[in-house]
Amino acid sequence: MKKHWWQEEIVYQIYPRSFKDSNDDGIGDLRGITERLDYLKDLGITMIWLCPIYKSPMADNGYDISDYFAINEEFGTMADFDELVKEAKGRNIKIMMDLVLNHSSNEHEWFKKALADKNSPYREYYIFRKGTREPNNWRSIFGGSCWTKVDGEDAYYFHSFAKEQPDLNWENPKLREEIYKIVNFWIDKGITAFRMDAINHIKKNPTYQSANPDGADGRVSVINFGRNQDGVEELIKKLSDKTFKVHDSMTVGETAGLSYDKYKNYIGDDGVFSMVFDFIPANFDLIEETWFKRIDWELEDFRKAIFNSQNSIQKYGWSANFIENHDQPRATSKILRGNDENIKAIKMLAGVYFFLRGTPYIYQGQELGMKNFVRKTVADFQDIQSIDSYKRSLEEGFSEEEAIAFTNLRSRDNARVPFAWTSEKYGGFSKVKPWLAMAYENPKVNAKDQADNPDSVLNFYKKMIAFRKNSLYKEVLIYGDFIEKTSKNKEIIAYQRRLEDGEIDLYFNFSKARVEEEIQGKEIIFASDDAKIEDGKLSLGEFGFALIK
Ligand code: NOJ
Ligand code: CA
Repeated sequence: MKKHWWQEEIVYQIYPRSFKDSNDDGIGDLRGITERLDYLKDLGITMIWLCPIYKSPMADNGYDISDYFAINEEFGTMADFDELVKEAKGRNIKIMMDLVLNHSSNEHEWFKKALADKNSPYREYYIFRKGTREPNNWRSIFGGSCWTKVDGEDAYYFHSFAKEQPDLNWENPKLREEIYKIVNFWIDKGITAFRMDAINHIKKNPTYQSANPDGADGRVSVINFGRNQDGVEELIKKLSDKTFKVHDSMTVGETAGLSYDKYKNYIGDDGVFSMVFDFIPANFDLIEETWFKRIDWELEDFRKAIFNSQNSIQKYGWSANFIENHDQPRATSKILRGNDENIKAIKMLAGVYFFLRGTPYIYQGQELGMKNFVRKTVADFQDIQSIDSYKRSLEEGFSEEEAIAFTNLRSRDNARVPFAWTSEKYGGFSKVKPWLAMAYENPKVNAKDQADNPDSVLNFYKKMIAFRKNSLYKEVLIYGDFIEKTSKNKEIIAYQRRLEDGEIDLYFNFSKARVEEEIQGKEIIFASDDAKIEDGKLSLGEFGFALIK
């Protein structure tokens, strides 16, 4: 693979509503982020991925954009944005913007005009069908039909997600031109990196035909007909050629459900993106990405998922490695299960994914080892997907307790809880009650206390980041191939990173028991405190790990 500037980046994802509130209205904002840039600099990350901050009625917390050229008031102004970019740049931190281009908000000017006049050219910016009944039985991702009736007309419009998120019609060249303008506006502002929301949804199966239901509601999930459809890459390529390719931008596609045999067109030498997020490892605990279809997994399932992902991706290009984001539960609760407060286990889990081949992404709070927040009733959830998933679990015959349990395990609210800066009230996030309830109003897991404690998860992340960025082993850790290793210990995950002139072996112990491993290398170069080599064997204590040269 050719070398690219973005291979050395370490990305930190910010959910702006929940990072830092600078004006005490309970909602995180841009100035809050600017105030905390030194924290990020100190952590060692090189890029911030900002979840959407554009003008939005917030039906899906900003993933419903009503003006692509403006900043949402609750986050601040364009001047605040420019200030953030400038201050970040002064600290060598780049900004990655989230582009939500599969759909707009129903309050976007285009959609308002489309609704107001059925002969408006803006009708062609969206997907409308005439008729007195829903055109098919596809179920939207946030529940219910993909079709919503137009008031006072025998017509429906299409939405893959919520009804407030009408899908844009990418088959229309005029719409595509508008999209290129949006992207180039941000590129012209100096933005060098983009995260492409739901981008593999922009092409739909042209028949728009009903299909066999896959649920008690008589519907079938739109992911079968409105995602990863033939021809979607051509549409993305048109966009990429007019925008990112011209400027050597870094791009990461959100491409859930994409099979590995299609990766060449996405991330190969002539691929449309720099990298894509692979959700197969993220959804290793689910069947069909459905929250109430869970598997009773073992470590081997997790291991296979990440190894398969690494092996498949390196055939074509570069990966984007993550264990958390704003749509995922906390990795501590999901993967460590009963051990989600065990500091050793949290650090070990961090190492497993962080040293894989690809760009590491860290989601805010992950570096503190935050965990899920258990809610007792559906009224306690804010996220639309959580509310829908709860309803569907009941429809499918699960009890109320089961439905709440599934929702707690997967709710997007888990990761969206405000960031805990201190142990003060509301975690120093805000002086007033935040928009989304804190797990603990006086959080014991918080950045301030961890900064002062050399053994904290936060200080471990700092060391780990510095090790990838600056150590003698940087080249292998960044550019080395991924090679899977087997171990006789069921509770060990092991792999190798290799370049022509050297290799590093990595071992991670997912159990409380001390384990021994036969090894080739001689020297521990980065490890948990109790890792040691004795008589040519590596010995790892409770949730220990080691990188060996
Ligand atoms: C994926 C985003 O990550 C998620 O938060 C959002 O709800 C959907 N796309 C729709 O834009
Ligand atoms: Ca605020």
